[in-house]
Amino acid sequence: MAGNWKMNLFPSTAQDLVESLAVEAPKHTQVIYFPQAPFLGCLQQWNLGKAQFGAQNISSQSSGAFTGETSAELVHALGGQFTLLGHSERRTLFGETSAQLQDKIVAAWKHQLLPILCIGETLEEREDERHFEVIKNQLMESLHGLLPISADLILAYEPVWAIGTGKTASVEQAVEVHRFIRSVLNEMQVGLGETTSILYGGSVNAGNAKELFSQSDIDGGLVGGASLKIEDFRTIIQLQDECLHA
Ligand code: PGA
Repeated sequence: MAGNWKMNLFPSTAQDLVESLAVEAPKHTQVIYFPQAPFLGCLQQWNLGKAQFGAQNISSQSSGAFTGETSAELVHALGGQFTLLGHSERRTLFGETSAQLQDKIVAAWKHQLLPILCIGETLEEREDERHFEVIKNQLMESLHGLLPISADLILAYEPVWAIGTGKTASVEQAVEVHRFIRSVLNEMQVGLGETTSILYGGSVNAGNAKELFSQSDIDGGLVGGASLKIEDFRTIIQLQDECLHA
């Protein structure tokens, strides 16, 4: 269960949140926090329980004259174990392309970070019934050059129209796309669809978590707004943990 804090939280509030949630560590659920880059290193010092953390984005470059970027190597040196890649806010606000993400996945793997590649269609694409095509293209452009894939990779399906809008995809919509993603992955490489974890993201909250995470095709969640609130995130983690136990 990944909490994407985006450009929110100061270290003091974040420390309260993670240390309060560390008190009752879930039995089956891996919790991952994604803080703003400047205080990534703080999380290494705090009591996270069994939780882990990572970066919201990394550079595709190893090091050098790339002002404002964060290297995978530094994230790893600061104790990070994951990185989000291609979040829709990175794609729409900062022009990140699926092709660039291929290089970022390579950079993540090179420095022992587990990439969580985010994909998903906009409202317009869904209304035009182009969502399957868009998702397939995103997967092909980011992953085709990496085949055969032997390192770990996590995908997050986040319909852009559901992010921060309070509008969640219905369980049927989410499951349909997760199954489609698995079929595309299997077309690319035999078995890849089964070995890849696929998270759902987009207005996950304490009220809809159980319905979403009880689906066997949905392996976990990428949570934005609700991961900033201790009680909400605690409930979401507990619900996911119960689903994994059931
Ligand atoms: P949200 O954000 O839960 O606030 O919709 C999810 C995300 O952007 O990862």
